[in-house]
Amino acid sequence: MIKHLKVLEKNAQEAKIFLEKSNALNDAFLPVKKEGYIFWPLKFEVDGEIVKFEGLKATKYSRDYRLLLSSKIRNLAPRAFDIFGDIGIIRLSDESLKYSETIAEALLKSHLNLKKVAIDKGVKGEYRIRQLQMIAGESDFVSLHKENGFEFKLDISKVYFSPRLSMERSRIYEAVNSGEEILDAFAGVCPFGVSLGSKGCKITAVDSNPDSEYWAHENFRRNKISELNYVFYCSKIEQILPKLNLYDRIIMNSPTTSLSYLSRISKKLKVGGVIHLYALVENEGDFKIENHLSPNFNCVFQRVVHPYSPSSGLVVFDIVKAGNNVQETNQ
Ligand SMILES: C[S@@+](CC[C@H](N)C(=O)[O-])C[C@H]1O[C@@H](n2cnc3c(N)ncnc32)[C@H](O)[C@@H]1O
Repeated sequence: MIKHLKVLEKNAQEAKIFLEKSNALNDAFLPVKKEGYIFWPLKFEVDGEIVKFEGLKATKYSRDYRLLLSSKIRNLAPRAFDIFGDIGIIRLSDESLKYSETIAEALLKSHLNLKKVAIDKGVKGEYRIRQLQMIAGESDFVSLHKENGFEFKLDISKVYFSPRLSMERSRIYEAVNSGEEILDAFAGVCPFGVSLGSKGCKITAVDSNPDSEYWAHENFRRNKISELNYVFYCSKIEQILPKLNLYDRIIMNSPTTSLSYLSRISKKLKVGGVIHLYALVENEGDFKIENHLSPNFNCVFQRVVHPYSPSSGLVVFDIVKAGNNVQETNQ
């Protein structure tokens, strides 16, 4: 019998980080999902609700789908891929493209939760839409993705969504206080807005893509966020900005353009408020966020959220507006 730590699905990532840090996670077994809970297999007992059962032994296939491939193809197939709902999303090099169907078949065989596999050809344009080509399963890009206890349904070929930001969304969720007024300036389908709206924050979401608006409403409804807690403007942020109030917190997740909007959007932050700004930063460069901040703004935290390319990363900067002698304008 294997001891498991029982946690609510929405706390699963947090628990996993804690168990990995304390070396308590038993990776000879797989986590088990049941009725809104995740059961993490343990090497030794930790604080929390412990449940004993036989456990699900990890097979060599459950760790790495490439073990199902011949060694020639295995060496070309990428180890990492993204999962959005029941769609596996994979980037293939020119060399591995001719084996795409075999690679997709191995992915489907080793990950039973996947029903489709699509090739990711990069994110493009103002709406940051992923160029996808379905190579296995039905050619339908609408799927339901579960993250931190929330559900997101959307068409991944028409709007932006990144499953790699789940930890980051969980970090921001922990940081906010109920009742905060929050501007999500590049909101997409509102994964930040839904999670923070559930905590009783008042969300103003802005996105220029009409498909983002459609799916954002679907996701607020799906996650039972009251209409009193959010408003969505389908607009370019620069056009709507003059009509907006001041906010306790502003999320700027448009990594390729955020910096060019920072001085304009930061005028909408209350004293003591926080901006979470996401930007692409060269690993070896001499980028300093301080060079982009107006007086009275300080960066109090930064971290690499995930690598973006071999030479750059997606970095979040938490920027605070200091001082109580600053004249606030609402223009
Ligand atoms: C990188 S995505 C982030 C989406 C969302 N925050 C998330 O985490 O899933 C950037 C979003 O900004 C939107 N966008 C791009 N330029 C914009 C602008 N000038 N004003 C408002 N939204 C914009 C795009 O349509 C896209 O949905």
